[in-house]
Amino acid sequence: MVTLAGGQGTRLGYKGPKGTFELDLYPKKSLFEIICDNLKELNQNLQTTIPWYIMTSIYNDTATKLFFERKNYFDYPKEAIFFFSQSELPIIDIYGNLVLEETFRIKEASNGNGDVFSALARAGYIHQMKQQGIQWLFFAGIDNVLLNCVDPLLLGLTIVNGHLTASKTLRKENPQDKDWIFASKSGKPSIIDCTYLTEDMKIEIDPITKHDCFRDINLLSHLFSINAVEELANDVLPYHRAFKKNTFVNEEGMKQVPEQPNTFKFENFIFDAFSFFPSIQLLRVKKEEEFAPIKDFNGPHNPEVATILYEKVKLHKKHIDDDEKD
Ligand code: UTP
Repeated sequence: MVTLAGGQGTRLGYKGPKGTFELDLYPKKSLFEIICDNLKELNQNLQTTIPWYIMTSIYNDTATKLFFERKNYFDYPKEAIFFFSQSELPIIDIYGNLVLEETFRIKEASNGNGDVFSALARAGYIHQMKQQGIQWLFFAGIDNVLLNCVDPLLLGLTIVNGHLTASKTLRKENPQDKDWIFASKSGKPSIIDCTYLTEDMKIEIDPITKHDCFRDINLLSHLFSINAVEELANDVLPYHRAFKKNTFVNEEGMKQVPEQPNTFKFENFIFDAFSFFPSIQLLRVKKEEEFAPIKDFNGPHNPEVATILYEKVKLHKKHIDDDEKD
């Protein structure tokens, strides 16, 4: 399992690595602990220990490691947790100028979750995994409290259908929503901006499967074979531009804290990796069961909503477990 935890979490604006953000549960639970709980449960069911690789960035690496130390690794086998750090790139302001972190230091930001493949290789982990016989890697973000990423069903389907990559998807509720969707681009699996679709395509139904063609959205829950990961570590993914809030030092050397996004950062996205392969296994899952991300305090993906959804799913699961015991 690879957790992508190198992001800055600018929208949430929480001081500290996003994975250390705690849900208001009793007792409180951090985003890292929620993922760890899932892994522990799987380990118990499958009688194994799933290695857990956590990608950090220069900005949160030390704080993340200290947090794990302080929490005693949530009682996960410490030797099965591996941290590695992604790279950074300079950011620019709206005039294209470099931005300063301090008077004589250019400000940089992590270069997107798509750096994960080369970051794994740089850390020597791809080699290590191959030696250990690891054949498949699940990848997911840090902020979805209903994440069910290490999913034997997704793995089984992917192997049986002969794909090297796979992804879970959600059905876009409203065809007019501006989400990016899975589609085939130049014959390769891709995730594209839905504004490229015509109005007819947005509601197109496949005549054979009777499924809608262009309504699968990404929830950042992916699977890649180790050979695909190794290949991707040497490939160059495209860069996307993101407009984000970043503190900087002005010409007088004073620190400025912007209230609105003020800088462009350049990011690789992990989903661009799909188009390096001929095919992909998609598995559409239910939003209410697998998707409750925390992105900010004011939008639909806020901590309060995520906590309610998390508790609802946990309660439901407890009822099922209790029924099975009876
Ligand atoms: P987001 O795109 O939601 O970014 O990342 P973010 O950093 O969490 O939040 P904002 O946009 O600044 O508010 C989706 C996932 O990808 C990871 C994040 O940690 C999150 O799990 N990510 C993002 C990285 O690991 N590295 C990056 O450079 C960017």
